Amino acid sequence: MSSYAQELQSTVQAMMTDGKGILAMDESKSTCDRRFEKLNIPTTEERRRTYRELILTTPHLADFISSAILFDETIRQSTQAGVPFVKFMQNIGIIPGIKLDLGAKDLAACPGEKVTEGLDGLRDRIAEYYQIGARFAKWRAVITIDTDTPSETCLVANAHALARYAALCQEGGLVPIVETEVLIDGNHTIDRCYEVTERTLQVTFDQLKLNRVDLERIILKPSMVLSGANCSEQASVEKVVEMTVRCLQNNVPDAVPGIAFLSGGQSIERATAHLNLINAQYAAQCPWTVTFSYARAIQQPALDYWHGDDANIPTAQQMLLHRAKLNSAAAQGKYTPEME
Ligand code: 13P
Repeated sequence: MSSYAQELQSTVQAMMTDGKGILAMDESKSTCDRRFEKLNIPTTEERRRTYRELILTTPHLADFISSAILFDETIRQSTQAGVPFVKFMQNIGIIPGIKLDLGAKDLAACPGEKVTEGLDGLRDRIAEYYQIGARFAKWRAVITIDTDTPSETCLVANAHALARYAALCQEGGLVPIVETEVLIDGNHTIDRCYEVTERTLQVTFDQLKLNRVDLERIILKPSMVLSGANCSEQASVEKVVEMTVRCLQNNVPDAVPGIAFLSGGQSIERATAHLNLINAQYAAQCPWTVTFSYARAIQQPALDYWHGDDANIPTAQQMLLHRAKLNSAAAQGKYTPEME
């Protein structure tokens, strides 16, 4: 057992505080720049810093957010007033986390499929981030659905990397968020998404166990079971929720303390409605705490409104807080569309 076992457990508990979620704000430089470019915001380090300061200094954010995932550039930055973001977060009670993977790259011999990289030198990077103040981490595996994919090769390669990352995190005092994103892109049916999500979770937990990861000290960050974005038949909220819960119940061990969904390109209202119904209808049947770890479904309205103009910051922060609040309600099964 990790010498950090006690601390890891406390971190998990704090991250999974009832009614709070994990804010994903760990977009890599290229992803952040892509989102800025769409809005004609200059893609400079200073604009990225300002945007992250906008998010973190949102008044009352910690009422709804337990923890936030940062990118390497961000974890080293400070507020305009010179307070390191990590220190600022510690002061307001938001646990800092770090994206550890180095992105999804083409998987050799498997056309159209990706494997997430970043294992080389990971032990040393974990030690450095722990010293900076991170207490948890994220690694995202990306699974693409198409006629002939995902291959078992792709599922095993990604699951193996996730498991090696998670074991190293626990050794070094960081709670690993194990992220398995089955992409929404494509015209597949929800049944096909169920099948792929199920196999992804099976292979992932096989590898986590094989690599001696302590399942009581991880957080799973899965995608929901959804119809492909271009599928002609879009499943109802009820169907998405029923299939998502069934898939998790059949494939996620009870030992896992928490599940925090990614939003994955769903509309912001759908991401909230799905999470809400899961908790409103199925909480009693779920052995894990179920909450959110959204990026786009929390940030998008605020980013669109800010648009790079600092005069818009206070209103953008209100918009961000609103989504955090609605998703916090959804994490307790207490959200209603009227709250929008
Ligand atoms: P979305 O909620 O925008 O899917 O992002 C979550 C995330 O952290 C992706 O890695």
